[in-house]
Amino acid sequence: MAVPLNENSLDFEIIDFNKNISHNCYEYFKRTFDSTPENTWYLDDLGVRKDKRRRGVAKRLLKTCLTKLNSKNVFLRTSDSNNQAQLLYQNLGFRHIDGLYTQVSHKRLDGSVREDRRIIMLRQAEPIE
Ligand SMILES: CC(C)(COP(=O)(O)OP(=O)(O)OC[C@H]1O[C@@H](n2cnc3c(N)ncnc32)[C@H](O)[C@@H]1OP(=O)(O)O)[C@@H](O)C(=O)NCCC(=O)NCCS
Repeated sequence: MAVPLNENSLDFEIIDFNKNISHNCYEYFKRTFDSTPENTWYLDDLGVRKDKRRRGVAKRLLKTCLTKLNSKNVFLRTSDSNNQAQLLYQNLGFRHIDGLYTQVSHKRLDGSVREDRRIIMLRQAEPIE
């Protein structure tokens, strides 16, 4: 799923690890990258069925999506321990924004809650010729 930067749905906190302060995600992107819903999109919920992985499905999906979003900045969150997803994103031009992370709580099927620390990765728009 890819959605334009949106004040209402992208309202999670981003923590700056170095300065020990947190920012509202929407405000942070607006201020730091001059982001607007027109020039910046957010990518979420990428997953490939277990038995279909390692066949290039995610890469093809992302390439198709990013071709359409070539003139936009695109950012995402991914778990800081998810090396395979990070590699996938890096190879498609995403860079880890150093020092920033978000903390996400998941409720699992068994009712337990898992805390997940996620890094932020950004792919900046192709410069206009
Ligand atoms: C991450 C995920 C989407 C990758 O999907 P996929 O279709 O298997 O990925 P692809 O086959 O297109 O692989 C593309 C690249 O990702 C990286 N990659 C994917 N799976 C990997 C693995 N198990 N180990 C190492 N690198 C891996 C590689 O760089 C790979 O390129 P390569 O094949 O040229 O080496 C899939 O493993 C998944 O659904 N995981 C669970 C959900 C998840 O973590 N989603 C990301 C949330 S942000």
